[in-house]
Amino acid sequence: MGHKHGESHKGQFGSNFGFLMAAIGSAVGLGNLWGFPYKMGANGGFAFLLLYLVLVVFVGYVILVSELALGRSTGKGVIGAYRALSEKYTFIGWMEVIAPWLILSFYSMLGGYCIKYAIANLGDLFGASWGVGGMDSGEFFGAFTSDMLQTVIFSLIFVLLTVIIVVRGVSGGIEKFTTIAMPALFVMLVIIIIRSVTLPGASEGLAFMFKPNWEAFEGAGWIRVLAVAGGQMFFSLSLGMSIMVTYGSYLPKEQNLERSALVIPFADTLVAIMAGLATMPAVFAMGLKPGAGPGLLFVTLQTVFDSMGAVGPFFGFLMYALVFIAAITSSISLLEGTVAVVMDRYIEKGKKFNRKTITTLMGLSIAVTASLVSLDGLGANGFPQFFGQGCWLDAIDLIAEGILMPLGACYMAIVIPTSLVDNEATLNGAQFKTKKFYDFCIKFIAPIMMVLVLLGQMDGFFGLGMFG
Ligand code: PHE
Repeated sequence: MGHKHGESHKGQFGSNFGFLMAAIGSAVGLGNLWGFPYKMGANGGFAFLLLYLVLVVFVGYVILVSELALGRSTGKGVIGAYRALSEKYTFIGWMEVIAPWLILSFYSMLGGYCIKYAIANLGDLFGASWGVGGMDSGEFFGAFTSDMLQTVIFSLIFVLLTVIIVVRGVSGGIEKFTTIAMPALFVMLVIIIIRSVTLPGASEGLAFMFKPNWEAFEGAGWIRVLAVAGGQMFFSLSLGMSIMVTYGSYLPKEQNLERSALVIPFADTLVAIMAGLATMPAVFAMGLKPGAGPGLLFVTLQTVFDSMGAVGPFFGFLMYALVFIAAITSSISLLEGTVAVVMDRYIEKGKKFNRKTITTLMGLSIAVTASLVSLDGLGANGFPQFFGQGCWLDAIDLIAEGILMPLGACYMAIVIPTSLVDNEATLNGAQFKTKKFYDFCIKFIAPIMMVLVLLGQMDGFFGLGMFG
C-alpha cells in the first residue's frame, strides 16, 4: 500500500473507562436523542417505555454480552468472528457488516444536518447573517434540505471528521475522543433538561411520558408496539451491527465482561429517557406536538428555541452540538466495524496493513453514498423512491434496521455457544452472576422476541396490517 512499515495490530482499549465511553458513545446516538422520544410519543408513551425496558433487560442485555464475548474470544472483526464459530456462519458476519455501511450513508447526512443547525444557532447568538434569522423553522428546514450543494457539503464534513478520528486508531482516536466527548454530552444534556422542565407548562410533557396509559396495547396493538420498541432497542444498543463484536475484540482480557455489559444498556437507556426529558416538556410548553421523523429534531425543536427569546440560540447551539457529538461517537463505531474486517483480511494473510489507507478508502465509499442520500433531501427533490418508502433514508433504514439488524441478532441468539460466553465472563476468576438468567433468555426469550419484532417491523414498513 505504498508504506514500507504497515501495522500488524488493530489496537486495543487502554482502560475500562475508555472502552465504556466508546461503547456507550456508540450506543448513544440519534436513536436516543431523536428516535426514542418520538417513537415513545407515537406508540403510547408510558406503555412503550415499559415494554422497552423489558426488552432491554431480557433481550438487549443478553445479545450484548454474547457479542462482546464473541469479539473478545476471537479477537476478530465481525466476519472473522462468525467464521471462527463455523465456516457456515460467515454470512451472518457479512450481513452485520453491510448494515453499518448502509446506515453510515444516512447517519452522515443527519450528522451534517446537526452541524448546520449548531452553526445556524451560533449565528443567531451573534446576530449574524448565517443564522436562522427569525425564519419559520419549517421553511428554514425545507430550504436547507432541498439545497443539494449545501447538504452534500455538510454530510461530507461529517464523514471527514469521522474518518479523522478512526484513522488515529482504537486508543489514540476512538477512545481519546469518546472519553472527552461523552462526559461533555452528559453535562450538556443536564443543562438542557433543567431549562426544559422549568419552562411554564412543562408538566404536560412529563405526563405524556410517564402517565400510565395502556391504549396502545389494545387488540394486537401490543405486537406493533413490541416491534417498534424492539427495533429501537437493537438500533439504540448498536446490536446486530458488528460494533459490539468489534469493540469486544479490543477489550483487554483482564477486564470484566459482565460488568461492562451491564453498564452499557443502563447508560444508553438513561440517556434515552433524559433525551425525552430534554425535549418533550419543552415541546409541550411551547404548545407544539411531539410530531414524528426528522421534523421533531429539526423543525419542532428549532421552533422551541426560536420562541425562547434571547437565550434560545444558546440552548439551540448546545442541543445541536450535543446531538452532533452523539452522532459522531456512533458513526466512528460504524466505520470501525467495517474497517476492522478489512484489517482482519490482511492479518489472516500474514500481511501488514495500513489503517490510514483502509479507513480513508472506506470513508471515500461512504462519502459517495452519503452524498447520494443527501441529494435526495429526505425525498424533497423528486428522485425515484424505493420499496414504497418516502425517502432514500427510509428505504435504506428498512433494509438495515428493519431486516439485517434483527435478523443478525436473531442468528446470534441461535448460534452462540453459551460455553463461549461463560468462558469469557469468568476469565481471571470472575463470577458470571447472571449466567442462569443469560442461559435462559438467550435460548428461549431472545429468539421468540426477535421473530415477533421482525414480523412486526415488516408489517409496519409494508403496511400489511397483519396485526390490525
Ligand atoms: N446506537 C446508535 C443510535 O442510537 C446508532 C447505531 C446503530 C450506531 C448501530 C452503531 C451501530 O443512534
